[in-house]
Amino acid sequence: MVSKSPPLCMCPAGWKLLAMLALVLAVMVWYSISREDSFYFPIPEKKEPCLQGEAERKASKLFGNYSREQPIFLQLKDYFWVKTPSAYELPFGTKGSEDLLLRVLAITSYSIPESIQSLKCRRCVVVGNGHRLRNSSLGEAINKYDVVIRLNNAPVAGYEGDVGSKTTMRLFYPESAHFNPKVENNPDTLLVLVAFKAMDFHWIETILSDKKRVRKGFWKQPPLIWDVNPKQIRILNPFFMEIAADKLLSLPVQQPRKIKQKPTTGLLAITLALHLCDLVHIAGFGYPDAHNKKQTIHYYEQITLKSMAGSGHNVSQEALAIKRMLEIGAVKNLTYF
Ligand SMILES: *[C@@H]1O[C@H](CO)[C@@H](O)[C@H](O)[C@H]1NC(C)=O
Ligand SMILES: *[C@@H]1O[C@H](CO)[C@@H](O)[C@H](O)[C@H]1NC(C)=O
Ligand SMILES: *[C@@H]1O[C@H](CO)[C@@H](O)[C@H](O)[C@H]1NC(C)=O
Ligand SMILES: *[C@@H]1O[C@H](CO)[C@@H](O)[C@H](O)[C@H]1NC(C)=O
Repeated sequence: MVSKSPPLCMCPAGWKLLAMLALVLAVMVWYSISREDSFYFPIPEKKEPCLQGEAERKASKLFGNYSREQPIFLQLKDYFWVKTPSAYELPFGTKGSEDLLLRVLAITSYSIPESIQSLKCRRCVVVGNGHRLRNSSLGEAINKYDVVIRLNNAPVAGYEGDVGSKTTMRLFYPESAHFNPKVENNPDTLLVLVAFKAMDFHWIETILSDKKRVRKGFWKQPPLIWDVNPKQIRILNPFFMEIAADKLLSLPVQQPRKIKQKPTTGLLAITLALHLCDLVHIAGFGYPDAHNKKQTIHYYEQITLKSMAGSGHNVSQEALAIKRMLEIGAVKNLTYF
């Protein structure tokens, strides 16, 4: 039997229904736009385009075609089962420190967290400690990167608006360790030890195994009690110190004991990031001009360039290296460089 009723749109009830639907739709659109979380029209979160392998490709212009096979962190198996011979002594290699290192590696860890390992493309930011971060309001932007690398004792508490609060990794050595690691890091922050001398391995061993502390052999008293989980500790592969010194600064890696020129932790962190990440941005790098004697160098403390004297760092040489990285697009600066 053929229905006698007219098509929906022809009757007044049909028009009413359509008008109602239109009104509901309009309200939904208005609601989603006003709330900005756009349930109905998802706007993808704005992130830098990330090209897999790009950092490594660009960095090969500086470092040559070194291989990604070099582990980021030293591993127990390389010192326990096979004795990996190292050509250099610390800080450019592990020659002569193997036994101490073996004891440290037995109680620490070397894995890269699954949350980083599983990323198809790793966006990283290296946050330097420079004065240019002051009032930068970069905190929110910094927190958005997959990997946030910080240096030494740089504080986060009280500076979140300018430097962010996320810390995926922190590079440090005993003299630069923050005395209160729980306050300035996240519970899962990797604390990456950069060893400059054998004593640095000894320090971490005594802290983690609660052995008798050694007070001599440091240029500044490191913490004697350090509240950290051993599983958060990593030992940076000295390979990065070697290539930063050799390829970026043209420093000799076999130096007589008296001359101790070495890259800063900051340059080392960029070198590491170029190896670990697909995209590398830097913030808070750069020192004041040499004639600017009053300008403080860090965002959190009142020290000037004078404090760098005798540190074995050549900051003008490093600035040239970073400029080169910016020019070839291996890294991008978030603050003035
Ligand atoms: C690295 O390898 C690529 C491709 O194999 C090659 O095009 C490039 O010239 C090499 N770079 C260096 C510095 O050897
Ligand atoms: C940062 O901002 C504060 C407050 O606006 C201001 O007093 C201070 O001088 C600024 N510091 C720098 C280094 O610009
Ligand atoms: C530091 O590097 C600059 C630029 O390469 C160089 O002119 C200067 O002699 C170096 N200073 C020292 C103390 O080696
Ligand atoms: C990066 O540094 C250059 C100077 O080398 C500067 O012109 C540029 O504004 C800086 N970028 C940002 C985002 O500050």
